[in-house]
Amino acid sequence: MIPALSYRLDMLNLSIGGKKMNLESPRPYASLDYTPDVERATAQIHEKVRSVIPDLEWPVFAPYIAAINELKRQRNAVILAHNYQTPEIFHGVADYVGDSLGLAQFGAKTDADVIVLAGVHFMAETAKILSPEKMVLIPDPKAGCSLAASITGADVRLLRERYPGVPVVTYVNTSADVKAESDICCTSANAVAIVESLGVDKVIFLPDEFLGKWVASQTDVQLILWKGHCEVHERFTGEELRAYRAAQGEGVEILAHPECPPDVLAEADFVGSTAAMIKRVGDTRPRRVVMITECSMSDNVAVEFPDVEFVRPCNLCPHMKRITLPKILKSLETMETQVEVDPETGARARLAVERMLAVGRRD
Ligand code: 13P
Ligand code: SF4
Repeated sequence: MIPALSYRLDMLNLSIGGKKMNLESPRPYASLDYTPDVERATAQIHEKVRSVIPDLEWPVFAPYIAAINELKRQRNAVILAHNYQTPEIFHGVADYVGDSLGLAQFGAKTDADVIVLAGVHFMAETAKILSPEKMVLIPDPKAGCSLAASITGADVRLLRERYPGVPVVTYVNTSADVKAESDICCTSANAVAIVESLGVDKVIFLPDEFLGKWVASQTDVQLILWKGHCEVHERFTGEELRAYRAAQGEGVEILAHPECPPDVLAEADFVGSTAAMIKRVGDTRPRRVVMITECSMSDNVAVEFPDVEFVRPCNLCPHMKRITLPKILKSLETMETQVEVDPETGARARLAVERMLAVGRRD
C-alpha cells in the first residue's frame, strides 16, 4: 500500500460469478496529493511519458495513477485499455493495451476476478460475453460508438429475411443483441480472413460500410453492406491526405484505419487495425509518420518510437475520451458500472465471438 495515501477499510459485499465475496476495499480519501511517495511510486512511468505529458501536468495525474495501481492489485483487477486511450491511462495504469481483437483475446484468457475496460461499451460487453462469470466494469457506461448505435438485432433479423441463407458477418463494434443475431464476428485485424473463412460467395457484412468496402476490395466474396459509419474516421478526406504528403515530402508514411472512406484509403501507404498500424511503425521505422485515426494513437506510439517523427492530424473520439483516470479510480472504488448481458443473448453472441477468435489475428 502506498503509505502517503490515507485509506479506510470498507467491507463491501460483492457477487462475482455467482459467488458472494467479501472484499476488503481500501479506498483512498478524496485528497489525492502529489506527495514524495507518489512521486517515487510513479517515477518510472513519468520518465516514460515525459515526451507526451508535460511535466506541469504530471502532479495531477500521478496521484490517480498510484491509487489506481494499488487498488487494482487489491481487487485482483486488470485494466484493459484500447489504443485510443490517453497516454496517462495507456502507459500509466493499463495491464494490457491493444486493438479490439487484442482486448477480446486478452479478456477471454485473464484469470483476474475483475476486468476494467478503458474503452467503449461494446468492448466491455464483448469481455462480459466471453467471461460471464467475471465482473466487467466500464468507468463510464455512456462511452458508446456511432457504429454500434447504427444497427439493432431487429435490423439483422430483417436483413436475414431479405437475404435468406446468406451468412452474417458482424464487426465487433456492435451490441450483444446484434452479435447474437450474427454467424461470426470480425475486427479490422481479421475481417478479410473471416469473410473468406465461411467458404461462400456472398455475405451480409455489418455495420461499417467503409470497412466493408475495403474488405470487398481485398476479396472475391460479394458483400451486402449496411450504412453505418465511424463518426471519427468518416471525417478524413483524400484531399487532406494529399495535402499532408505534399507538405511532408519524401520519407513520410501515411497509415490509415479501414473505417476511413475509400478515397482516404486509396491515398494511404498502409491500411490496418490500430495494432497493425503500430506494428507497421515498429517494422519499417519510417522517418516521419502520419496516422489517420483517433488522436491519442500517435501520442501512445510516439512514446515507444522516439526516433520516428509523428505528424499529428487526428480526430477525437468523444466516446473514448469519456474514460478518465478519476472515473477509473471511482469505478474500482465502487465496483461500478458493472456490464451485464442477458445470459441467453450472451450465449448466442459468444458463439459468434468465439468463431472469430478461432480464426485469430490476420494482419
Ligand atoms: P481497432 O483497434 O480494432 O483497429 O478498432 C478501432 C476502433 O475504432 C475501435 O473503436
Ligand atoms: Fe466507435 Fe469510431 Fe469511436 Fe471507435 S473511434 S469507438 S468506431 S466512434
